[in-house]
Amino acid sequence: MHYCHYREYIASHNSMETMAQAPDWDGLTRFAQGLAVAAGGEILPLFRCNTGIDVKSGPVWDPVTEGDRAGERIIRRMIEERYPEHAIEGEEYGFKEGRSGFTWILDPIDGTRAFVCGLPFWSTLIGLMYEGRPVIGLMSQPFVGEMFYGNPFGAWHARGGEVRPIRTRTGIRLEDATMGTTAPELYRTDRDKASFARLSQAVRLTRFGGDAYFYAVVAAGHLDIALDAGLQPYDIAPLLPIILGAGGAAAEWTGGNPAEGGNVITAGSQALLEEALAVMA
Ligand code: IPD
Ligand code: CA
Ligand code: CA
Repeated sequence: MHYCHYREYIASHNSMETMAQAPDWDGLTRFAQGLAVAAGGEILPLFRCNTGIDVKSGPVWDPVTEGDRAGERIIRRMIEERYPEHAIEGEEYGFKEGRSGFTWILDPIDGTRAFVCGLPFWSTLIGLMYEGRPVIGLMSQPFVGEMFYGNPFGAWHARGGEVRPIRTRTGIRLEDATMGTTAPELYRTDRDKASFARLSQAVRLTRFGGDAYFYAVVAAGHLDIALDAGLQPYDIAPLLPIILGAGGAAAEWTGGNPAEGGNVITAGSQALLEEALAVMA
């Protein structure tokens, strides 16, 4: 089982710090915030406008809009201007090779199903991987006007000009935990359906329809578990530095690396994550 948790994250950060020229994590974080603001400028005018919807192929209805495409275009343009040597992986426009250890991971609108229904449970996800590890992550909801972000130094919430550090809620037993997942129909195999049903029965409350918001509020200590099956790297890699930087834990429940997507579960603490995994197994 590939776990990601706070101690491992800090240890990997410390080893990066000893490098001759440690990357400027704060500067890169500020740059990521600027990308999110620019994406919001493209996406917000299209929110609640009932503009055209295209549908991607797949087993579940998967809409995409001009908001998704315009948001990713401006982010890519800004990265290409400032860091032409960085690689980019985006949901809408694919992979661009780089000549550095950095790869930007972009989901311009996570929660397009919520977006097309006029619900504010969508967000822009921007992540930065360094030598294969997620090091900076940001979730921005421009309609609400809030951002959750994390880097090797911690995790924060920003809204209305106020910035505060965030921590996960700890000391919660599974029977008292609250959890969120996007939709039950996204659990496609009998095994995943059964694992999810067992976990849902074990916790106090299960909420649906939150997409990346669930992971952000786990990081901020308002929810205890967020999980989803069948994720792509851009659905989850930008969220891991926020959760891990806030003291939380993450795993891919079939044994993979959560930064690569798949079946990912995150929790406020390593102890709660292990309790949940034991019920799901
Ligand atoms: C969706 C969200 C959701 C996950 C779905 C994704 P999208 O992304 O990440 O949490 O469960 O599998 O498709 O398509 O709205 O960017
Ligand atoms: Ca997504
Ligand atoms: Ca998306």
